[in-house]
Amino acid sequence: MANMAKTALITGILGQDGPYLAKLLLSKGYKVYGMVRRYSNPNFENLEYLDLTNKIDYMEGDMTDESSLYNVIRVLRPTEVYNLAAQSFVGGSWEMAKLTTEVNSLGVVFLLNGIKLFSPRTKFYQASTSEMFGLSNTNGYQDEKTPFHPRSPYAISKVHAYWTTINFRESFGLFTTNGILFNHESPIRGIQFVTRKISDGVAKIKLGLEKKLYLGNLETMRDWGFAGDYVEAMYLMLQQEKPDDYVVGTGENHTVKEFVKLAFRYGGIPDWEKYVVIDPRFKRPAEVYELKAKADKVTKALGWKPKVSFDELVKTMVEADLKRYGRVSKSR
Ligand code: NAP
Ligand code: GDD
Repeated sequence: MANMAKTALITGILGQDGPYLAKLLLSKGYKVYGMVRRYSNPNFENLEYLDLTNKIDYMEGDMTDESSLYNVIRVLRPTEVYNLAAQSFVGGSWEMAKLTTEVNSLGVVFLLNGIKLFSPRTKFYQASTSEMFGLSNTNGYQDEKTPFHPRSPYAISKVHAYWTTINFRESFGLFTTNGILFNHESPIRGIQFVTRKISDGVAKIKLGLEKKLYLGNLETMRDWGFAGDYVEAMYLMLQQEKPDDYVVGTGENHTVKEFVKLAFRYGGIPDWEKYVVIDPRFKRPAEVYELKAKADKVTKALGWKPKVSFDELVKTMVEADLKRYGRVSKSR
């Protein structure tokens, strides 16, 4: 048979990870389909940022609508499905617990049923998360053996999806994988997440568009990497002979405060404390205090390693937001 292009369906194509993954798969010769839910005005800004809008085909589907997912799988029967769609904001998940559960847990049941019924050879990637570990921090890090102690409706919904993914593998022999990814960021990170909120805030303060930056808990620690590196791990997981689950992170963590300090420094503002206001509205009912990956398995088995350092990540994000607001800081 002629060399047929592999096809990939990416749910959550309009988010942060979707465009980076699409870019990677296109570079490998895939035909890429993005699933978009129905909107009057879908936002293609992130795809636009990477110049991808016209390089992808789109299918309509909603994670809360079983028949739309069945339809997408039945029509495309893709080589690979990357399920990135989610209500992914932890902070909002207490107020939207039902929606979060429907999208993040039930949606995965629907998608996997669709694959089982209409395309059982399709390989499936589930966007699992370090949030599932929550309070579990026995050895000062988290790896594939660390038990889960989820702390939010978001994290709970993702634990459900994690086990659903494994259950379809064990029950029906489907090729399903979980990537347990630690926080990863980029210039197209959603504006509500703390890193982008900070880089955006620094740029606005530098350019005189805002006076203050309002934040919650500055002491929590995250293992932050670059989204462009992490999508390579997703891809590698689906190229293996056998499906498995992998922790993906840098192995280094920092406090929110460290991110703030560095971002202000890269924005050319030395005295960050003058601008940052602690606002209880941004504190969470139950916090995840410290995440740090031990990602030996993915390095050993798949040869994956992060390339972008914490410093480079902060710098890139601040510079991108300074540019967005129309002027590059003189301090560069
Ligand atoms: P994101 O920017 O929030 O993107 C999520 C996407 O899901 C959005 O494009 C959104 O569509 C889509 N979506 C939401 N509800 C939907 C529904 N009912 N039907 C169809 N699509 C829906 O998330 P991300 O940062 O790219 O993360 C990708 C995935 O990895 C998520 O599942 C997230 O939970 C998981 N994850 C992320 C990280 C991280 O640090 N970024 C770490 C671990 C795991 P709209 O654009 O239409 O709103
Ligand atoms: N969003 C936000 N806004 N977070 C703040 C703020 C603020 O103003 N101030 C402090 N934080 C703290 C949060 O309390 C949390 O401890 C940390 O900053 C990171 O928050 P987020 O950037 O919102 O990310 P997250 O760690 O809760 O969740 C992200 O990473 C997970 C992987 O661990 C999301 O992308 C999840 O979808 C993902 O699964």
